[in-house]
Amino acid sequence: MPGLIPDNLLEDILNRVDIVELISGFIPLKRSGRNFKACCPFHQEKTASFMVSPDRQIYHCFGCGESGNAFKFLMKYERLEFPEAVEFLASRAGVELPRFERQNDAAAGLTTQLYRINELAADFYEGILNSNEGIRAKNYLLKRGITLETIKNFKLGFAPERWDGLINHLRQKEINLSLIEKAGLILAKDSGGYYDRFRNRIIFPIFDIKSRPIGFGARVLDDSLPKYVNSPETPVYTKGKNLYGLNFAKDSIRDSDCAVIVEGYLDFIVPFQSGIKNIAASQGTALTTDQARLLKRYTHDVVVLFDGDSAGELAALRSLDIFIEEEMNVRVAGLPKGVDPDSYVRIHGAQEFKTKIEKAQSLFDYKLAVLKGRFDCRDVQGKVKISASMLETINKIKNAVLRSEYIKKLSQELDVNEGALLQEVSKIKPERFPSGITVNAVKKISNISPVEKLLIKLMLEESELISRIREHLDPQDFKDEHASRIVSLMFDLADQGKEIGPHVLINHFAEDDVSRLVCESMFMPESPSEEHKEKVIVDCIKRIKEERVRLKKQVLHDQIKVAQGLGDEEKLNRLIEEFHALIKKR
Ligand code: UTP
Ligand code: MN
Repeated sequence: MPGLIPDNLLEDILNRVDIVELISGFIPLKRSGRNFKACCPFHQEKTASFMVSPDRQIYHCFGCGESGNAFKFLMKYERLEFPEAVEFLASRAGVELPRFERQNDAAAGLTTQLYRINELAADFYEGILNSNEGIRAKNYLLKRGITLETIKNFKLGFAPERWDGLINHLRQKEINLSLIEKAGLILAKDSGGYYDRFRNRIIFPIFDIKSRPIGFGARVLDDSLPKYVNSPETPVYTKGKNLYGLNFAKDSIRDSDCAVIVEGYLDFIVPFQSGIKNIAASQGTALTTDQARLLKRYTHDVVVLFDGDSAGELAALRSLDIFIEEEMNVRVAGLPKGVDPDSYVRIHGAQEFKTKIEKAQSLFDYKLAVLKGRFDCRDVQGKVKISASMLETINKIKNAVLRSEYIKKLSQELDVNEGALLQEVSKIKPERFPSGITVNAVKKISNISPVEKLLIKLMLEESELISRIREHLDPQDFKDEHASRIVSLMFDLADQGKEIGPHVLINHFAEDDVSRLVCESMFMPESPSEEHKEKVIVDCIKRIKEERVRLKKQVLHDQIKVAQGLGDEEKLNRLIEEFHALIKKR
């Protein structure tokens, strides 16, 4: 991956860390022959197809194709940018990185600029809240029991009741309008020009895990609708990948080994202010797999607070299955009808709120109680409905022992034969793409020719082969564009007398597809024995050449047809000559 950090330093870092040790810090790995394997953390699966090679220092998933080296794993799993992953591993490996000059604005990447614009916007809104223009908003917050200290902590602000408050402010700082639009802060007018998205609203800046402002939520001061206007998705903000307040709460979540999940901005702020610091807010939408994984970095124990008796309660409960799929421990605490965590804390105090959390029931118990309240569990139809809904959740439990325990428990609770429940659960189709994971995330396995892959693998395993193969093949002889680029780089590096492993080689490419091809090749099972190797190589070269000729013939054939159609005699003759020469050469 090209960048500011010198290649040899990246290589140094990669050679000092062990990918098996790194990955097993995040997911459990099992030995399997020379390699280690696990259920892939990047897509849903029941059988392990995620492989990690200690010899080659790479990983590859045969299910979804995700692959790479230690940097790539961190980027994907921890959602780090490349320089962040480098920094992380460098400090782990004890490698010192050179200090770089701060990039100037023009050269900085889009995301860096968006963070900066968001920061300027947050400063602006904060300034307005603390000015005359913000008095109404400040009074509103104070009346809701939010202290000045809290306002400052969470950098709350106010968007003035003007169409151009923020635009004018940012224009004075000579910020490009199209960038402000990309940040989601302004909207284009039909008549040309732009206007502020947020007006006359209290501003809740949304921070990422590193406390960089990535978006905003904005609440009206009265009962008008919509109650909240939020930032749209931008290159730095994806709603389903973020939890409001997690940046403030993460240490406490880790220390207490428990996360409390609420819905709203104020449901986060008010309990936090009164001492419940291991808390984060989903911002009113169903929880996603990404959010569960984000939390899982800090704890496996989650308590979700529910506004009891709400119409969509069962649907909302279903979204908690996400945690079960992620093998996390999820409990639920119900609140009285019409009471949310914010008002609960204000009415009953922090201590009772804490008790509520401690007394939270397991998802199993809570869901069963809700279902029993809704259907008659002594009636056959009721039993069918309740068991179907419960089995959906139980089916998501990965551990077989645990699953059978729950089935046993359910059979006792409903007074239904355990065998019948087992039969029913076996009918539920395994959900391949549960909500939160898009089909998109599962890439097709590449269809590059196995011959090309095998040669790449052999060259990477034995650098002496490079010069031999080079006598017969050019990089362009490889039909696959990525294969051709990989081979070309290997030849170049060989010229420089460099010998590098696949884990270092893939650093040179930014695209997923290239590193995937390298990793896929390295994990190919067939490696010819020493005695057969010679024959295999000759064979591979021959087949690649044949394929090359076949393609060339096809191209010539098409060109000849075109020339015929156009009646271009001169060109036609030249092409036919070329065609004959090609056949003769074989
Ligand atoms: P609530 O309606 O419960 O609002 O929505 P709230 O946060 O408790 O606000 P108060 O107490 O009435 O002031 C919960 C969350 O759902 C999202 C917001 O993230 C909100 O905090 N939401 C709600 C929206 O995004 N848009 C809306 O119009 C309403
Ligand atoms: Mn509320």
